[in-house]
Amino acid sequence: MYVAKNSTAASKAERYVELAEALDALLAGEPDPIANLANMSALVMDGLDELNWAGFYLMRDGELVLGPFQGKPACVRIAVGKGVCGTAVQQGRSVLVEDVDQFPGHIACDAASRSELVVPLIRDGAILGVLDLDSPRPGRFDAADDAGCSRLVDVLLRHLARVP
Ligand code: SME
Repeated sequence: MYVAKNSTAASKAERYVELAEALDALLAGEPDPIANLANMSALVMDGLDELNWAGFYLMRDGELVLGPFQGKPACVRIAVGKGVCGTAVQQGRSVLVEDVDQFPGHIACDAASRSELVVPLIRDGAILGVLDLDSPRPGRFDAADDAGCSRLVDVLLRHLARVP
C-alpha cells in the first residue's frame, strides 16, 4: 500500500524533490506504462495542493488523446496548436497559464479550472505527450512548479520503456 510521507518541505522546490523521490520509488520495477502514468497522476493529485485535474494526454497519429488522469471527465482529443496542451506540443516547451480566461483558445474541461500548467514529455526530440495540471486558483502555478513538474516528468521517462 502506498502511504504518503508527511512533507517536511520548506519550499515548493523541496516539495518537488520529495515528490520526485516518492515517484521514483512508486514506479521502480514496474514496466507497464499505463500503470505508471495512472500512478503518477494519483501521486501528483494527492501530493500537490489546490489541483482539480492532473493527468496525461498522449500523442496518437499526430494529435493528443486523453490518457490516465485524476479529476473530472475531460475532452478526449486535442489537435496540435489547440488549447494549452496543443500549444505546449506545438512550441515544444512548457506552457504556464496564470488565468485561463486570458489564454485564447483555452479548452475548458472543468469549469472550475482557473490556471493551468502543461509540461511536454520529450524523448530523443520527439514529443510523446503532455502532463497537464489544472487548478481552481488563478495564478496557482509558477516557475518553481514548471521546474518541479519537469523533474517529475524526467523521473517518469526514466521508468517508461515505451509510451502506450
Ligand atoms: N485546458 C486544456 C484541456 C485539457 S483539460 O484542462 C483537462 C487545454 O486548453 O488544452
